[in-house]
Amino acid sequence: MSIFKSHIRQMGAYKPPLEGRNPHHHLLLDFNERTLPVSKVIEDALVDYIRDGSLQTYPFYGDITAQLADYCGAKDEQVMITNGSDQGIDLIIRASCREGDEVIIPGPCFPMYNQCAMIENLSIIEPAYTRENGFPTEDVLAAINDKTRLIVIANPNNPSGTEVPREDILKIAAAAPDCTILVDECYFEYTKATVCDALDQYPNLTITRTFSKTWGLPSIRFGYVLSAAENIQALLNIRGPYDVNQLALVAARAALSHPEYTHEYVKEVMSVSKPIMEQWLDKHQITYWPSAANYLWLFPQNPELMFNELMAAHILVRPKDDSDGNKGLRITLGTQEQTERLIQVLERCL
Ligand SMILES: Cc1ncc(COP(=O)(O)O)c(C=O)c1O
Repeated sequence: MSIFKSHIRQMGAYKPPLEGRNPHHHLLLDFNERTLPVSKVIEDALVDYIRDGSLQTYPFYGDITAQLADYCGAKDEQVMITNGSDQGIDLIIRASCREGDEVIIPGPCFPMYNQCAMIENLSIIEPAYTRENGFPTEDVLAAINDKTRLIVIANPNNPSGTEVPREDILKIAAAAPDCTILVDECYFEYTKATVCDALDQYPNLTITRTFSKTWGLPSIRFGYVLSAAENIQALLNIRGPYDVNQLALVAARAALSHPEYTHEYVKEVMSVSKPIMEQWLDKHQITYWPSAANYLWLFPQNPELMFNELMAAHILVRPKDDSDGNKGLRITLGTQEQTERLIQVLERCL
């Protein structure tokens, strides 16, 4: 019997299906990652740092927040770096909520919000996204009450790819001035949609972002939070002084110094691969959710067969059921060549 809190003992761990994934053997379309390796500039920066003989020193972050602020169009004091955006989500929930508070987390969604809310023993209200109407703005507004402390808005959402209109985010922020609004902009570089420019006007807005997706650096765990300076000060009281490791910083700096490799990849995925895939799905009348991101959530008649055929062809995708129990697949889109390879296998399943 564990000595820990009973609600923690009763929870399950968040265990993404990582077993056996190998970028040298598989085309990885299962975690919404970048499907190409990062640029040589980043590799060289990491190797140079390791060879420089400084690994024995604690991390020192220097002016990275100023660089990120410049990239985002925010003020330096509105930025805090984190160990992936998962840490940002965790810190914002911990800083905002007390045991028993209510949080509104529309679903289906990325599991970390619920996981962090359960750790704090919060009461989770879960309005539903729909394929037809997208983000449940009216249901979220109707659910706000005296006990609500935090509202999650993933823009775009995972697994559905749903984009949330800017005016809806700001309407919710205005309707709940005493609640933290956690806007997850994990896929920002794909959508270019942000409420970063509204931070001065809405002190309850917090934004999480990451270098795990378009920048191609999930292995090094680097993210950041954008919010009003007072909120960043409070979050820094919780985040440890060395939670972000120095290699992550070296890689992120190198990435920011030449963002073209990200922009070119985004362009190919969004302007070439995604339209090809959508056209193929439309042609075969396969249902999918409208997506603003680099992935599509589809509901073919034979998802298991497709999953198995893809697996046999060394292509990994993610099975994801909707809330009615319909079996779907969430498929990340990569380059044109990778998308054509994907479609070739899917053709065989029709
Ligand atoms: C919507 C969303 N938010 C956050 C994350 C976590 O990102 P990170 O690797 O920065 O922790 C993911 C990862 O898949 C995601 O899909």
